[in-house]
Amino acid sequence: MITASSLVKKFGDFAAVDGLNLQINKGECFGLLGPNGAGKSTFIGMTYGTVQRTGGDLKVFGYDPKTHYREIKRRMGVVTQENALDESLTVFENMIIYCAFIGVPKDERKKRVEELLEYMNLMHKKDMPIIALSGGMKRRLVFVRALLGKPELLILDEPTTGLDPAVRHLLWGKVKELHSQGTTIVLTTHYMHEAEVLCDRLVIMNKGVVAGHGSPKELIHQHAPGYVGIFSLDHQKQIHQIVETNKSYSLTEDTSGIYIRTNSLDELTALHTKNNLTPLQIRPSNLEDVFLKLTGQELSADA
Ligand SMILES: Nc1ncnc2c1ncn2[C@@H]1O[C@H](COP(=O)(O)OP(=O)(O)OP(=O)(O)O)[C@@H](O)[C@H]1O
Ligand SMILES: [Mg+2]
Repeated sequence: MITASSLVKKFGDFAAVDGLNLQINKGECFGLLGPNGAGKSTFIGMTYGTVQRTGGDLKVFGYDPKTHYREIKRRMGVVTQENALDESLTVFENMIIYCAFIGVPKDERKKRVEELLEYMNLMHKKDMPIIALSGGMKRRLVFVRALLGKPELLILDEPTTGLDPAVRHLLWGKVKELHSQGTTIVLTTHYMHEAEVLCDRLVIMNKGVVAGHGSPKELIHQHAPGYVGIFSLDHQKQIHQIVETNKSYSLTEDTSGIYIRTNSLDELTALHTKNNLTPLQIRPSNLEDVFLKLTGQELSADA
């Protein structure tokens, strides 16, 4: 459905996307993860022609977005990172204008808008100005807008950033429903758990290239298998001594604590009981561990 080969986007001398290779198949929910500035939104912009690539190849539905962005846009819906709603108009007016913009037949517009407002639990806000909506309601409304054209491909650029857990779960439910009905979904998110819940496959991007790819389970298995014990920095000296004598433990630290990774839970339990250390937390490795490993823990100057 989307194929990128050696895809490049340069802004002046700076390559925001720097030789990206990926394939997104029909019917899958595909995740695009990566730190701030990794090039996710730039890639998304290139898929429907708002950002022009400077190198490589890109095909969406078999079309080149440089020349056939109209055909592509007709079949895709986008929840953009910024809401871009007209604040002076009402919810209903915003959606009707968008219907006209994307060519929904005039006699179908009202029905389609009302159905989708109902679907996103926004019908009660239909005649309110945008300015009177909360952040979560605006985000749901951008979902409505993305679905007005009945898209085969739905692109979600950080759809749930800043939303409370209840609204986030509601949107996850909608994404799963659309996915199960056959819609292809591309999702960017900074919530690793969200990616684990929703994505069949994902890539972790860093500095404009793919740093890792696979299903969430495969990525964890490949890059951060096992368990993590998190210990208080108060035990720093003792833990350093333990790790010195047993090099099989891997150790990282940040201001939130000391992280020890082991292949098995038994190994971790033995480590803290034998040394009389109480862990702050013990958990299986997750996608966040993979993300930190593949992207480096430091904030890049470019973020
Ligand atoms: N129009 C532009 N002109 C110059 N530089 C740009 C432009 N758009 C993006 N960039 C740069 O390209 C890089 C990638 O930006 P992009 O928005 O694609 O990142 P992202 O992965 O979506 O990040 P975030 O998680 O913060 O949304 C950044 O360094 C950004 O400053
Ligand atoms: Mg972005």
